[in-house]
Amino acid sequence: MTDVLSAPQGRFELARRSVRRNDPLRAWDAADELALAHLEEKGLRAAGQVRVVIVNGGSGALAVALATLNPVVVSDSYIERIETAANLERNGFDPAVRFVDPLSIPEVSIGSPIDVLVVKIPRGAALLEDELHRLAPLLHRESVVVGAGMTKRVHTSTIELFQSIIGPTVTSRAVKKARLILTKRDPGLDAGPSPWPATLETDAGTLVNHANVFSHERLDAGTRFLLSNLPGGPLGEVVDLGCGNGIVGSTLARRDPAARVTFVDESFMAVASARATFIANGGDPSFGRFVVGDGLFSADGTAAAERGTVDLIVNNPPFHDDQSQGDEIAWQMFTESHAALRPGGELRAVGNRHLAYHAKLKRIFGNCRVVAANDKYVVYSAVR
Ligand SMILES: C[S@@+](CC[C@H](N)C(=O)[O-])C[C@H]1O[C@@H](n2cnc3c(N)ncnc32)[C@H](O)[C@@H]1O
Repeated sequence: MTDVLSAPQGRFELARRSVRRNDPLRAWDAADELALAHLEEKGLRAAGQVRVVIVNGGSGALAVALATLNPVVVSDSYIERIETAANLERNGFDPAVRFVDPLSIPEVSIGSPIDVLVVKIPRGAALLEDELHRLAPLLHRESVVVGAGMTKRVHTSTIELFQSIIGPTVTSRAVKKARLILTKRDPGLDAGPSPWPATLETDAGTLVNHANVFSHERLDAGTRFLLSNLPGGPLGEVVDLGCGNGIVGSTLARRDPAARVTFVDESFMAVASARATFIANGGDPSFGRFVVGDGLFSADGTAAAERGTVDLIVNNPPFHDDQSQGDEIAWQMFTESHAALRPGGELRAVGNRHLAYHAKLKRIFGNCRVVAANDKYVVYSAVR
C-alpha cells in the first residue's frame, strides 16, 4: 500500500515491500515525522555541503525526505535497502544513494566527518550500542545528533547509550508516542571500540554473534531442537536459509566436511556471523558460500541457489516481522525452498508448535513428516 507522508520537506509517496496482501502498516512512523520537523527547525534543509547520515531508516522515509542532501544510508538489512531504493525511485530521486552496512563503519569512510546523524532507535539495544561505537569517532563538536524512536523503544538505557558513547544528551517531549534523543558530541569522550561481535562457547559449538543477530545472547531453544534433529549421511549441496549466526549449517559442515554449505540471510551482520561461526568450528572457507539476500531468490537477481539443485535446506523461519506478527516470510522461505530443491531433496525446518507449519508444508510440498516434537517446537521434513 502506498501512503503520502506530509513533512516540512515536502509530500512523499512511500510504500513498504510487503509479502502480505492488504498490509495495513505504513512505511514510516511518528518518530520519522518528529525527526524531520526537528531538522527543519534547525534549518538543515537549506544547508549547503553537509554530510548527512541516516541509520536504521526502515523503508526509507528519512532518506526520501532528505534526498536532496545526498544522505549516506546505514542499514543492516538487505530488505530495507530494497525498500529505500524503491521509495527513492517512486519520488523521482536517484535510487543509487550510498548504502553502507554497519560493519563496514568506520573502516569504509563515510566521506567526511558527519554533520547530521539521524539514528532510528532499533529494536535491539545491542545493535544501537554497536552502531554508536562505530559512528562516534566520525562526529565533531558541532554535529547534530538526533535519535528518533517510538516511546516504547526509548528507555533510560537507550538514552544512557547516547550519553556514554557520544556525549551530553537530552530528550524531547513525546509527540504522538514518539520521542527524540538530542546529543552533543563530547570530543574528549572515547568510549572505545564496539564490544561486538561476542563469542559464545556452547555445547553445540562456538557461536560468533554480531550485535544484530537473532538470539545473540544464547543458543535459541528452537535452534537447539533443530540441531538435535538434523539428517545424517552425505549431505551434498546444503543451504542454511535465514542462517543467523550460522550454527546449523556449520554443524552440518562439521559432520560432513565434503558438504557444500551456502549461508543466506537478509542481515549483513548475520552473514558475517555465519562466516565467522563456520570458520570457528573448523569449516573450510572454500566449502562455504555466504550470501546476503532476500530469501533464496532476491528481486535484484541475487540468488543463493540454482533452482532444482539443492539436496538439503535447513530453516528456522522468522515468525514476526518487526511490528507485524505473521508467517509470511515462512511462506516465502518454504515456497522458494521447494523451487530450489532437486526432486528428492529435503527441507528440514523447525517452528513453534502453535505456528502449525505442517499444513503449509503439506500444501506446498504435498507431504510433510514430523521428525520430532516437544512441548514448544516441532521439527518438520518435507521432500520435493
Ligand atoms: C529465527 S532466525 C533463525 C536464525 C538461525 N537459523 C538460528 O536458528 O539461530 C530467522 C533468520 O531469518 C532471517 N531472515 C528474515 N527474513 C529474511 C529474508 N527475507 N531472507 C533471508 N533471511 C531472512 C533473519 O535475519 C534471521 O536471522
